[in-house]
Amino acid sequence: MVKSLKVVVTGASGFIAKNLRKYLSEKNIELVSISRKDFKNFNSETKIISKNYKENNLFKKIQNSDALIHLVGIGKQSVNTDYDMINTDLTRHIVNLSKKANIKKIIFLSGLGVSANTSLGYFISKYNAEKQIIDSGLDYTIFRPSYIVGKDDLLSKNLKKQIKSGEIIIPGSGTYSIQPIHISDVVKVLFESVSELRFNNKIFDLVGPDYITYENYVKLFSKGTKTRIKKINLEEAYHNAIVNSKSSFGIDDLNILIGNFKGNHKKLSQISKINFQSVLSFL
Ligand SMILES: NC(=O)c1ccc[n+]([C@@H]2O[C@H](COP(=O)([O-])OP(=O)(O)OC[C@H]3O[C@@H](n4cnc5c(N)ncnc54)[C@H](OP(=O)(O)O)[C@@H]3O)[C@@H](O)[C@H]2O)c1
Repeated sequence: MVKSLKVVVTGASGFIAKNLRKYLSEKNIELVSISRKDFKNFNSETKIISKNYKENNLFKKIQNSDALIHLVGIGKQSVNTDYDMINTDLTRHIVNLSKKANIKKIIFLSGLGVSANTSLGYFISKYNAEKQIIDSGLDYTIFRPSYIVGKDDLLSKNLKKQIKSGEIIIPGSGTYSIQPIHISDVVKVLFESVSELRFNNKIFDLVGPDYITYENYVKLFSKGTKTRIKKINLEEAYHNAIVNSKSSFGIDDLNILIGNFKGNHKKLSQISKINFQSVLSFL
């Protein structure tokens, strides 16, 4: 009999984690999921609630797992939680824990645009996390996602909220592009990266087949509604982000949009057996 896979998921209440845990549980994967807060677990899923991922609460339950998928991350800082603490230091802790607990592989979601040449704080924290993983000696797969969309993703929620208000704001020209990928494909790729050796010790851009300007994406997203599309200049957009921590776009949301990063979808589609869906066909 083939031994079933045992997989640990961190940040279990997050958008990607929720979709992934459902998919893996349907595949009868033995799941150990960790979150800071209580959540509803699936059959064959062990739930761990841990505020700080301290070793003594977790060690026994995660020991000897086939993979750990690290989905903790932040894209906005505050005085209490900054990028170094969560994106880098917590990843270092998870890597050390994984080594001690004899976990065979770690899978990490970094960000499209991360590179050794970046000067952006958010990307630097993700780059340093990637380095912890690469240097760990564990097998790994690192994904650098663009916008992952599905039900309740951050971008779609933001646009839906603006549609409700009757007006969508485009920061700047809107001619910069995004490369959205659908969550249903993302969970399949993550599963493949657990079970298929050819994904080992590689970095992939997690991007979909479409490369579309933000303006055209917004137009498609809001088609059939009576929403006004309004361009505001970047100075105004950045000013809103700086003075209002609740503004639709945070500073790094703007940096990432304006960064206009293009990923390598071909490399992903060549290694994967998935027939990637066009996110635009869902709009
Ligand atoms: N979605 C995208 O389009 C996208 C694009 C690029 C990169 N990524 C990366 O993919 C990963 C998952 O993204 P997501 O979209 O699922 O994000 P998400 O919904 O915000 O989930 C991230 C999870 O991180 C955990 N977390 C946040 N702050 C924490 C803290 N201070 N201490 C401990 N845990 C904390 C939370 O898990 P609990 O509440 O369960 O504790 C949270 O649900 C992140 O690393 C993100 O940077 C996502």
